[in-house]
Amino acid sequence: MPKVTIDGHSIEVPEGTTILQAARMIGGDIVPPAMCYYSKLKTSGGYCRTCIVKVTKGSEKDPRPMPKPVASCRTTVMDGMEVQNTTAPDLLDARKGVVEFLLINHPLDCPICDQAGECHLQDLSYQHGLAKSRYEFKRREFEKIDIGDKIKLHMTRCILCYRCVKVADQVCDSRVHGVINRGDVAEISTYIEKALDSDFSGNVIDVCPVGALTDRTFRFKSRVWFTKPVDAHRNCNKCCGKTVLWMSGDDVLRVSARKDKYGEVEDWICNDCRFEKKSASDWTIEGPRHIDRHSVISANHYEKKKALKIDVSNQSKIEERAHNPK
Ligand code: SF4
Ligand code: FES
Repeated sequence: MPKVTIDGHSIEVPEGTTILQAARMIGGDIVPPAMCYYSKLKTSGGYCRTCIVKVTKGSEKDPRPMPKPVASCRTTVMDGMEVQNTTAPDLLDARKGVVEFLLINHPLDCPICDQAGECHLQDLSYQHGLAKSRYEFKRREFEKIDIGDKIKLHMTRCILCYRCVKVADQVCDSRVHGVINRGDVAEISTYIEKALDSDFSGNVIDVCPVGALTDRTFRFKSRVWFTKPVDAHRNCNKCCGKTVLWMSGDDVLRVSARKDKYGEVEDWICNDCRFEKKSASDWTIEGPRHIDRHSVISANHYEKKKALKIDVSNQSKIEERAHNPK
């Protein structure tokens, strides 16, 4: 089995493993960000370049470094390969450039975007972006399109990661949408505005890393960080029936698939579960959803209340000691 070292951590991986997959096997901060790769979608990756890494040693047989940063989601591990991600300042600088390019056309409308708080581009910009844009030209703008009665496409926010196209191709039973045109006039389209009416079309919302595809039944209902996500399930004859309910009091504002720590869905869910079961009595609620992300949703999350209470009581003890020193 080929052995690869990423930021000083070594691991042996099966033949054909990519650098990104090897990094995920190690886990932690060394895992490169990925805006277009999606492990559940075949042929995804290779579009956005956010996952670039520096290969300082090609392999045991050919130890020459690779001349340019490579996309870790598309580069296969070779035995003896050495890779830098977080430990190479010039690589982090290059990634900053990639983020700046992704933001060239993406509007900075987070305050009114439904994806705010769970947008991977928002997180990426905070971690790697510049505070201001150097871009002076007119940005691409599109009219919003309704893709059927449940999905809204706001193409202006799209970063052309192709994930939704792959869902339409691989998860839905008939594909009526794709990318038309190329270069800076490329856009997601449904030839033309045809409804995506497959039972699994709602999954395009979950894979979209930005706010380009949103749930029309949830739009502008609430900010995600004001909702309480809970794990829930129901007997469904179309999908696994395992979901997350985003609740406000007893109201179910949104239903989504469960996502792992890389923001990828654990299992696809059908449109009945996502759009039609909006009453708590439709579901068996399992308990609070652990949001394993660095986004605003997990900050101040009610799941952490217990720890917070301990902190607060420790803090009052410290203050008490400061005021009454023995
Ligand atoms: S609409 Fe979303 S998922 Fe589809 S290509 Fe654009 S950014 Fe990616
Ligand atoms: S995640 Fe690798 S190129 Fe987009």
